[in-house]
Amino acid sequence: MVRVVSLLIVLSMLSFSLAFAQDLPCLRCHTQANPLPDKIKKSGAKSASEFLDFLRNKSPKKALHKAMSDEDIRKAFEQYGKK
Ligand code: HEC
Repeated sequence: MVRVVSLLIVLSMLSFSLAFAQDLPCLRCHTQANPLPDKIKKSGAKSASEFLDFLRNKSPKKALHKAMSDEDIRKAFEQYGKK
């Protein structure tokens, strides 16, 4: 019985971390204290392409985002930018 329970715990932890792995890499740094929707709004971008251009070329913080893929930046805009 104890074994079954610990197996269940391990499995649930595993699925939890997998669910996290599918999240945007942005959310590793952009937590409640540094919220992504706010940042996207302040960038003034009106489309995913504009946002990509902003974060790649215009933002003073662009160096922080060099490792991010175009796809993830676009996804971030789709998910958090249109509110
Ligand atoms: C390595 C940590 C890290 C990751 C990963 C990260 N960011 Fe950031 N980002 C920051 C920090 C730090 C700032 C500056 C926060 C501040 O000035 O309050 C920032 C600022 C921003 C800004 C505002 C820039 C400006 O010039 O106004 C935007 C927009 C942004 N991030 C979008 C994203 C998106 C989209 C992703 C994912 C594709 C992402 N970030 C991933 C750390 C990160």
